[in-house]
Amino acid sequence: MSQRMPDRTNPPDNRPIGVFDSGIGGLTVVRALRCALPNEDICYLGDTARVPYGSKSVDSIIRFAGEDAAFLVEKGVKALIVACNTASAVAMDSLRKHFPALPVMGVIEAGIEAVMRTGAERITVIGTRATVSSDAYRRGLHERRPSLLIESIPCPLFVPLAEEGQFEGKLAEEAFDLYLSHLRRSPPEVLLLGCTHYPLFRQALERYFE
Ligand code: DGL
Repeated sequence: MSQRMPDRTNPPDNRPIGVFDSGIGGLTVVRALRCALPNEDICYLGDTARVPYGSKSVDSIIRFAGEDAAFLVEKGVKALIVACNTASAVAMDSLRKHFPALPVMGVIEAGIEAVMRTGAERITVIGTRATVSSDAYRRGLHERRPSLLIESIPCPLFVPLAEEGQFEGKLAEEAFDLYLSHLRRSPPEVLLLGCTHYPLFRQALERYFE
């Protein structure tokens, strides 16, 4: 009779995964992580004291991201997920340099891959001022397919609206009008929500473009 021996080669690593954002936006990433990795513990930091990040200087965003990461490392996380496009766009090199022992993952690559899978040619990227100024999405998309037609639009009011729970209704629609009304005449094939707060507007945005 054979007896199964306990596997001692790969003891489970029960430490949590650290996830951070400037506020509640990163919880949209936590929701996806929970589905993909239901057995993992997640330690989430939303830096609501300093939200929004996207209208701050690059130096400030790099400093905030470093402090957020240090807070989570202090809690004993085994990996860091930067659930913030703004920090992913400008702070990844600095984070990887300061935390060389940890896997550090951002969200920009995943967004680019998701768009490439659609096969679309006309793409509008919306994000914070810092994400749009970084050009990270446009560069990444054009590296994969130079023929893509890409428009990038900063939508700085979306984050404070999301933090206030204004995902739909009059205020949200006024913000949509301010930044996106020209797209109603000829909507892009894909609207890339390049900020983790923006999926909270998804239903209202779908209605806006119906
Ligand atoms: N949710 C973040 C992002 O994905 C940060 C938004 C902000 O604080 O401006 O960009």
